[in-house]
Amino acid sequence: MNRGDICKVVSLHMKYRPVEEAFLSRFGPEFVTDFMTAHYESELGGCFVMELDGEVIGYLTCTSDHTNLSRRILTRIGWRFIPKFLLGRYKITYGSLFETIKMSVFSISYSTKSRFNNLTIQAGFTELVIAEDFQGRGLGARMMETGFKFFKSKGIKRIQSPIYSKNEPSYRLHEKLGFNKFAEIKTPTHRMIIFVKEIR
Ligand SMILES: CC(C)(COP(=O)(O)OP(=O)(O)OC[C@H]1O[C@@H](n2cnc3c(N)ncnc32)[C@H](O)[C@@H]1OP(=O)(O)O)[C@@H](O)C(=O)NCCC(=O)NCCS
Repeated sequence: MNRGDICKVVSLHMKYRPVEEAFLSRFGPEFVTDFMTAHYESELGGCFVMELDGEVIGYLTCTSDHTNLSRRILTRIGWRFIPKFLLGRYKITYGSLFETIKMSVFSISYSTKSRFNNLTIQAGFTELVIAEDFQGRGLGARMMETGFKFFKSKGIKRIQSPIYSKNEPSYRLHEKLGFNKFAEIKTPTHRMIIFVKEIR
């Protein structure tokens, strides 16, 4: 992935990662852009795109260290959050403000400490999307294999991947690629399944 792909990744994210499933989407495309840019700029993040004839048709983001990447993202987004929010550039596009605050606290706690499930695995996938017209052709699996190589190159032996419990395609994809269900946790708005995999 290169910097110019960030806006295409954000478009895919806004289209295929509904606010009910992906917390990030609640704050709109500008927030997702800041998130993806922080991911892209950090050596702790891994960002990959799938291209067809120059078009980005899918992406995978991952991290070798959830806690420290989250801190960097918070530093990047944090100081400009309130002014941007007040100016209406970050908009809550789903649910109430109270529910969003609860989810924000949950997400920050989850990614900075993972204390909710005693999960100490710091590396893992953060987002994966394949555009609808290209789904079911093995591309999601190929993107994940790329992610495994990224982790291997960094000497990482175990990874986690949290998913929305009702996302059947993602659930099956994780099972197929050798992930095991590690825990099921209740967030303020939905249930989340934490998958874990050993990298060999
Ligand atoms: C989840 C997603 C990435 C899968 O990508 P994909 O390219 O369609 O998946 P693949 O073709 O590589 O499928 C690999 C395996 O995943 C499972 N799978 C994929 N789509 C499935 C579906 N609609 N129903 C059930 N299982 C499915 C199957 O086990 C499949 O193996 P098989 O073809 O041998 O049966 C894609 O559906 C997507 O982008 N969805 C929207 C965004 C999203 O939910 N992302 C996941 C966030 S955690």
